[in-house]
Amino acid sequence: MSRKNPKKKKKKIPAKGKNRLQLTAATSDKHDLYEHSVQDTQAECDFIDQVWKERRKRLAQHVREDFCGTAATSCEWIKRREDNTAIGVDFDPAVLKCAHERIAKRLDEKQIKQLTILQDDVLTVKTKKVESVLAMNFSYYIFKTRALLGKYFKRVRSSLVDDGIFILDAYGGSDSFVELEEDRKVKGFTYVWDQHFYDPITGDVTNYIHFRFPDGSAMNKAFEYHWRLWTLPELRELLEEVGFNNVTIYWEGTDEDGDGDGEFTPKTVGEACEGWIAYIVAEK
Ligand SMILES: C[S@@+](CC[C@H](N)C(=O)[O-])C[C@H]1O[C@@H](n2cnc3c(N)ncnc32)[C@H](O)[C@@H]1O
Repeated sequence: MSRKNPKKKKKKIPAKGKNRLQLTAATSDKHDLYEHSVQDTQAECDFIDQVWKERRKRLAQHVREDFCGTAATSCEWIKRREDNTAIGVDFDPAVLKCAHERIAKRLDEKQIKQLTILQDDVLTVKTKKVESVLAMNFSYYIFKTRALLGKYFKRVRSSLVDDGIFILDAYGGSDSFVELEEDRKVKGFTYVWDQHFYDPITGDVTNYIHFRFPDGSAMNKAFEYHWRLWTLPELRELLEEVGFNNVTIYWEGTDEDGDGDGEFTPKTVGEACEGWIAYIVAEK
């Protein structure tokens, strides 16, 4: 039985020399903590490459990162190959301000021109067609009805080139329906995933991310998510209903300790584990 924390990754905050200041709630930026404890942009971009090689026998160049937040994945995508481009879409001006600060540090002048950041709603945004749209870290769970999620999926489909591929992730497992808190040590702080509320009638969940620090300080509810906990068959049916083809679940393999091994392969039968993360790949 494998158990994979919904918010995926395990990277460490790099130590800046021996005398690195100890992190505290007051001196930390919540977006830095999020990037270091949750996101694995390299793994995400590796997965895009894997999918394009497997399905189209080539690599993609132009992607759109929906719900881009600090646009970390877009930056990684652009740094990956010199002709890559990305469009990041997020409707929150505050997070986009942080995105622009990071972009200026992460990309050079040429690379910055390859990135377009749009402050817009993914339900209505109009962009040039891209090869892949990405919806990562379950951000689309914010759409709680079939009507709204279907509308989003339709808009994504129309934003893709003819052989385009939509890539999104999902989480689930028996523990995802349970109110629980679990923490993970990251270098310099502790990341806490708080599944605070679950309503079995609506499928609504409220999840929080808290950060705790060695000095006893804490950043409570640094991030909060009011989502519907969608299941894979529901998502797959809806993607097919709006016209996507070859909707495939990429299931994570398991290492000898029973933890996720970061390798995702197409599967038609999953595993009744307590917690899982999967990618969904849907072709236009
Ligand atoms: C969970 S964060 C995702 C951050 C990052 N992309 C990741 O993969 O971890 C969700 C982001 O989605 C944005 N968001 C939520 N609903 C949106 C919508 N309808 N249109 C655009 N952005 C939206 C929020 O502002 C927030 O920055």
